[in-house]
Amino acid sequence: MKNVRSQIIGCGSHLPERVVTNADLAKQMETSEDWIVTRTGITQRYLASEGELTSDLAVRAAEKALEHAGVNADEVELIIVCTTTPDDTFPSTATRVQARLGLTRGFAFDIQAVCSGFVYGLAVANNFIKTGQVGTALVIGAETYSRILDWDDRTTSVLFGDGAGAVVLRAGNGDDVLPGEDGWGSARGVLSTHLHSDGRHRDILYVDGGPSATQTVGYLRMAGKEVFRHAVVSLASVAEEAMAANGMTIENLDWLVPHQANLRILEGVARKLGIERDKVVVTVDRHANTSAASIPLALDEAIRDGRVKRGDLVLLEAMGGGLTWGAALVRW
Ligand code: ACO
Repeated sequence: MKNVRSQIIGCGSHLPERVVTNADLAKQMETSEDWIVTRTGITQRYLASEGELTSDLAVRAAEKALEHAGVNADEVELIIVCTTTPDDTFPSTATRVQARLGLTRGFAFDIQAVCSGFVYGLAVANNFIKTGQVGTALVIGAETYSRILDWDDRTTSVLFGDGAGAVVLRAGNGDDVLPGEDGWGSARGVLSTHLHSDGRHRDILYVDGGPSATQTVGYLRMAGKEVFRHAVVSLASVAEEAMAANGMTIENLDWLVPHQANLRILEGVARKLGIERDKVVVTVDRHANTSAASIPLALDEAIRDGRVKRGDLVLLEAMGGGLTWGAALVRW
């Protein structure tokens, strides 16, 4: 099995139609365009319309990823939806997506690791592929955070947006190297994944509801400064961990595609790692924080506009509630 490696063969994303600018928010709460941009880098966000569900966004992103990959839906054996805002408590949003894509074989489930969800989902799908249990997988990050925001809390409600992104993973050969190159690190696909969590920090980022605890959905609560501090430290250390595990350093990276929480967090991580700012893919300015959807949304943008090219070394990384954090190093 050593040479089986999962390759990302297609990606897609979908944003709701409704754009809400900082100026729009300033009309409905005591905030200003200047405060939001200065503290977060966010200028606008996309918010789902009434009745528009996480699964609706997920299906659209999945269809685009399948089309980009040239894969028929019926070839997919595994669907993972990474989300903290599922349509229902159960069944999973993934099984709903499975049905909407017309699939009756394979299996589908949700992963909940908050903003780290996509990296967790990619790691799980990668392992199913590496062990030979699955040939083709769909990993989707999809969120409607607008449903769990307390719109009376100006500190949290201005930070988030809704959206979805997806990738198609397929079992590939670790010998699929670029011309003139050889070795594990130069072969196309997911080189390694690195996951972490530390539940002691639950109270700095959580939702104050849930079926067992309160029988309500609840709203997002956050100690912003604490989250900020943990994010910069964890994102920098897991990036170094991923590079070291592959015998590389940050200098080898072509692109960093981080979870899009806040521009100041991204700049802090880039500074700490010593990576040039123009190697960091940024979408938080237009998408805001879309939690588990933010990495595949950013990746899709950078693939489709031609920034990420065949053979590039790309690090995906995230940190979120739990706390959870993780990274995936990918040779594109
Ligand atoms: N508009 C105007 N003023 C505001 C707003 C707002 N939307 N929100 C808060 N303020 C005010 C506060 O009331 C406070 O006023 P005061 O000084 O009169 O008391 C002042 O601004 C400063 O508030 P702080 O909370 O101290 O602001 P801070 O500089 O910490 O910035 C922020 C807040 C942007 C949330 C910051 O802590 C942050 O970026 N944290 C990271 C959080 C994050 O990105 N979370 C995403 C989820 S986790 C993840 O994805 C990794």
